[in-house]
Amino acid sequence: MSRRNAGGDDDHPWWKEAVVYQVYPKSFNDSDGDGIGDLAGLARRADYLDDLGVDAVWLCPVYGSPMADNGYDISDYRSIHPAYGDMDDWRQVRDVLHERDIRLVMDLVVNHTSDEHEWFRRSRREEDGYADYYHWREGEPDEPPNNWESIFGGPAWSYDEARGEWYLHLFDEKQPDLNWRNSAVREDVHGMMQWWLDEGVDGFRMDVINLISKTEGLPDGDPDAGLTGAEHFMNGPRVHDRLREMHDRVLDDRDLLVVGETPGASVADAREYVGPNGDGLSMVFQFEHVTVDHGDDKWTTADVPLAEFKEIIAKWQAGLADEGWNSVYLSNHDQPRMVSRFGDDGEYRRKSAKLLGTLTHTLQGTPFVYQGEEIGMTNAPFESPDELRDVEAKNYVERAVEHGEADCYEDIRETVEATARDNARTPMQWSDDTHAGFTDGEPWIECNPNYAEVNVERARSDPDSVLNYYRELIALRHERDLLVYGEFELLAPDDPDVFAYSRRLDGERGLIVLNVAADATSFDVPAEVDRDGLELVIANADDAPATVPATLDLDPYEARVYLTPSQEGGVGQ
Ligand code: NOJ
Repeated sequence: MSRRNAGGDDDHPWWKEAVVYQVYPKSFNDSDGDGIGDLAGLARRADYLDDLGVDAVWLCPVYGSPMADNGYDISDYRSIHPAYGDMDDWRQVRDVLHERDIRLVMDLVVNHTSDEHEWFRRSRREEDGYADYYHWREGEPDEPPNNWESIFGGPAWSYDEARGEWYLHLFDEKQPDLNWRNSAVREDVHGMMQWWLDEGVDGFRMDVINLISKTEGLPDGDPDAGLTGAEHFMNGPRVHDRLREMHDRVLDDRDLLVVGETPGASVADAREYVGPNGDGLSMVFQFEHVTVDHGDDKWTTADVPLAEFKEIIAKWQAGLADEGWNSVYLSNHDQPRMVSRFGDDGEYRRKSAKLLGTLTHTLQGTPFVYQGEEIGMTNAPFESPDELRDVEAKNYVERAVEHGEADCYEDIRETVEATARDNARTPMQWSDDTHAGFTDGEPWIECNPNYAEVNVERARSDPDSVLNYYRELIALRHERDLLVYGEFELLAPDDPDVFAYSRRLDGERGLIVLNVAADATSFDVPAEVDRDGLELVIANADDAPATVPATLDLDPYEARVYLTPSQEGGVGQ
């Protein structure tokens, strides 16, 4: 195994050199046959993660929750949902990962809680000290206090009969937003974070952390500006104060990976979150490259325009090169499967999955691998709305039919199958056994029927599999600082099919060429690239030439990485 978690000084923290693996626990591995993945199931797969070579696991929420949004609606931050196990199971996961030198990053969901959280129950009853824990507003039951829209569709307000007032929820009605103006809320959140740090976590992934501050008075939003109200809650007025306070009180002087999920953040916003004079986050998840194919909303999608996609990536690479750090991802539990979206999940499934992995592992920043991506898992068919599990997709279908945008499910099925978050949440495909080896029971969501072909067991024994390619990519990433820290430069920005770029670090150079198209093409290496000394270190085609010709003839979805030898000795691994 090549070095892991080697970093160690201020300029080279471990999380810059890490590859992070995201686990969506409900769908990862079920140990007790109830059809729901669990912590014991995850612990059993520690060797798999070790073998893949990843350095850290980001674990999506496993806390007490009524599961209106699969755990992103937390009713108890300091306990484990019984379907996942208990704190002893969690400690077991922590220990088996740590024994393998794999760090554990927990999801921190503090923009909102569940409406079943004790704080909300007390707030609803206006108990002493809790009345202002959430955003409450008086008003008539048929007239919401402002025009803000929920990210899951419909108004961002619900009327609570018990208190006789409205409360704000930027997501589902079961996810009321916490009032971060209230210092008692902040103290409770800090205390909870400290509690998890004492349990030995290595960082946090902060759910929609740039939504925690809302414009004073909660004024109406511009109804013509996308999601109504967003200008009053995305990157809101006090967000940096809140994060700095959190940093000073809880996170300072610790060796943590802290990644903020920040929809709607620009490069300039991101610099404030992660820059040297920023709020102390390690990196953010920005959304520009995963909304590039959206129309008015995520349910109106188009083909991914490569030139625009490249421009976005290049902008973020340059924008955070000196001030901050990038996260690099193409998939997660909220996005459709990347191979179906950016690649080709038919004839070129393997090839395009490898190409996309090549992209994420050769950009500057920290790569995140979402479970199943490493075996090229694809979007799934959802033949009927009854097969959908996600609150967002279900809301969409219901509203589309109600508002007459569709007569029936069949009219919007294609959109749902291309877009729904459930695509990412079908069970991890471990083998061709019943239910993909995920569970002995009935899975909470159907398996993708392609599991007989696409599964870990099969991929393991196939030297040409996506899985084995990922292992190589991760090892290469660990081996070469050039890939982690090297300066990025986009080449041939207008080429509609080829994504090519160079990397440069001290005396070392790299050239990465990706044909993101289902047709063969040729690529003239731009004159500014010094081809001398570049050697092929990884490619997804057998016959790629070992050195860089003036013109590269590329097969459909062909990916090649050429690097100069490491000055520490040897090329690649
Ligand atoms: C972002 C999470 O990634 C998503 O899954 C969740 O639904 C929302 N935040 C609300 O917590």
